[in-house]
Amino acid sequence: MATFPFIYILILLSIALTLSVTNALALRSQDVLTPSLPQTEAHAAVLAHQSPKLPSDSDLESTAPFDDTLRDLLDALNVMQDNYFEFWQGTWPTSIDWTAAVLGTQVSATLSSLTSTDSNVVSSVVLPSIEESVSAIDREFLAFENLINHFFGQTSAFYFGENAISLRGQAFDDMLWVVLGWLENIKFQVLHSDLHYERSSPFGAPRRPEWYGTQLRDPAAHRARLFHDIASTGWDEYLCGGGMVWSPYLTPYKNAITNELYISASIGMYLYFPGDIINSPFTPGGVDNDPFSDGHPHHATYLQAAIDGYKWLNNSKMTGTGGLYADGFHIQGWRGSNNPGSRKCDVLNTMVYTYNQGVILSGLRGLWLATGSLQYLQDGHRLVRQVIQATGWPDRSGRRWAGLGRGGILEEICDSSARCTQNSQTFKGIFFHHFTEFCRPIRPQESRFLASTNRTTGLRSDWQHIYEWHQARCRTYRKWIEHNANAALMTRDQNGKFGMWWGRKYRQFEGLSMTSPLPRGAIDYRNFGDQAEGSDPLLGDLPGFVSQLTKNPPASSRFEIPGLSSPGHTHDQTRLPDGWDDGPVTQNDYNDRGRGRTVETQSGGVAVLRALHQWKSHASLSGV
Ligand SMILES: *[C@@H]1O[C@H](CO)[C@@H](O)[C@H](O)[C@H]1NC(C)=O
Ligand SMILES: *[C@@H]1O[C@H](CO)[C@@H](O)[C@H](O)[C@H]1NC(C)=O
Repeated sequence: MATFPFIYILILLSIALTLSVTNALALRSQDVLTPSLPQTEAHAAVLAHQSPKLPSDSDLESTAPFDDTLRDLLDALNVMQDNYFEFWQGTWPTSIDWTAAVLGTQVSATLSSLTSTDSNVVSSVVLPSIEESVSAIDREFLAFENLINHFFGQTSAFYFGENAISLRGQAFDDMLWVVLGWLENIKFQVLHSDLHYERSSPFGAPRRPEWYGTQLRDPAAHRARLFHDIASTGWDEYLCGGGMVWSPYLTPYKNAITNELYISASIGMYLYFPGDIINSPFTPGGVDNDPFSDGHPHHATYLQAAIDGYKWLNNSKMTGTGGLYADGFHIQGWRGSNNPGSRKCDVLNTMVYTYNQGVILSGLRGLWLATGSLQYLQDGHRLVRQVIQATGWPDRSGRRWAGLGRGGILEEICDSSARCTQNSQTFKGIFFHHFTEFCRPIRPQESRFLASTNRTTGLRSDWQHIYEWHQARCRTYRKWIEHNANAALMTRDQNGKFGMWWGRKYRQFEGLSMTSPLPRGAIDYRNFGDQAEGSDPLLGDLPGFVSQLTKNPPASSRFEIPGLSSPGHTHDQTRLPDGWDDGPVTQNDYNDRGRGRTVETQSGGVAVLRALHQWKSHASLSGV
């Protein structure tokens, strides 16, 4: 807390104060957020003040139900950025390259959620007392805009702070997180412009967004395009008839995450990529910048990549218990490109992670937008239902592991033992980010795209029908999301930092011994594979997991493989007391064990609160 900039102490204070009886004198200090009006009137005059669809200040009452969530979300984001982001370095120094890309994605997505919320509502959180004056609206909007720009400035700094050179030599999934991150940033720029700076353009010409932040569009588009180009070389049809390999440096492993990322990033490039005017260091290959009537190029190759990618993934049988995506496939007998073994994806690592159930969801929504095919949405909803079921829902108090959580709360297998690495500390936030995207209401840019393909007009407008069906299905997830958001909130410590294992009240001990068994045949590369990546067991001969593991137990041997361990021990690999020993002696909370509270666990809190905020603030999702 000592390092919080003064202004954020004020915001946090004001949040605390508005929760109790308002103290008008203290709240005056919030004036610091708004520049004095005489100097800015001219500037403010060009801004459109009203967001089109949400309640205006005349019925602030009706917005009360989501005010708390909005406060919690802003608070979570503030803590994440104040504690973990270093502006002078342009990054979160404790992150690693791929988690930083995800953190940037979360910030941009949260800004999109904020800008979709009526600016009066947002500023009523930041500026608790709206003084009665003619300029109240200007003050509110400036406070709102100042808040948005505070964080947007950080994402701009991250463009330069991102480790973009080194990432070009990393694994394909690492690169694809970068693509998603900059596409998310572009989506926010367009949305913020559309909602608040839209200018009617003469003669129906493509509109020109006027918000200053759109000057980041060209660099962001360039980086997204470049990384998508490089990552696309990971698509391979020699093995398994298709699919992306995880890494060019390891034994071929065709895993869920790289393929889901490829699908979601490709369809994202199709829908949102605005074209790339920068030729350095490579010229855009085969790129025709022949835009649709919405001004975007919508290159067919990106759409085809997404369609082919999903077709392969959906037919690959990469699913296990409960229909959840397993981690990935090895190739039986592979010994090198001269001796490729079966060349089939026939050795499944059944390990389950939350993020493998998430990333595909935004891809499925994009595929539906691009093709109009209902099947993509149906596949997405089936997966969501399976995830919810794997948390034990609707049972809210169960303590038994249900496949991907318990008591209705999403949980990583490593949560209960506090053995999560930095990788898996990021996963639940990724799940919620893409799940939120899956159910996100249509934005103006997407409407323009649909109009440019004639799908929302005339005879083919059964589009509206499907959209309403989709939103209605999404509405049914709200209670589960709320339950998970509350579970995340209760892990906050006195500094507002979120913990990894949701549902554990801060500093309250239940004396529990909960276990999270690995699925049969699973190898947890993400938590015990850091030393294994590039060595055992991903390199060299892979006759199958079982013999590999029995010959050469990894560091994780306490995570015994069910079925191989002695009877009675099959399901207690991750007993709490074992994990407890690993932490510092002074630990006094479940979530201070292991790696403890990090920027990655904070991003999980941001993501689940953003989800709840979306569900509460859009009529099509809240059912209001
Ligand atoms: C995905 O696979 C399922 C089951 O095989 C099938 O029912 C569904 O139609 C497939 N989805 C798409 C979009 O082809
Ligand atoms: C959409 O309809 C307009 C007017 O009927 C037509 O000129 C245009 O070619 C159509 N676009 C597509 C993508 O079908």
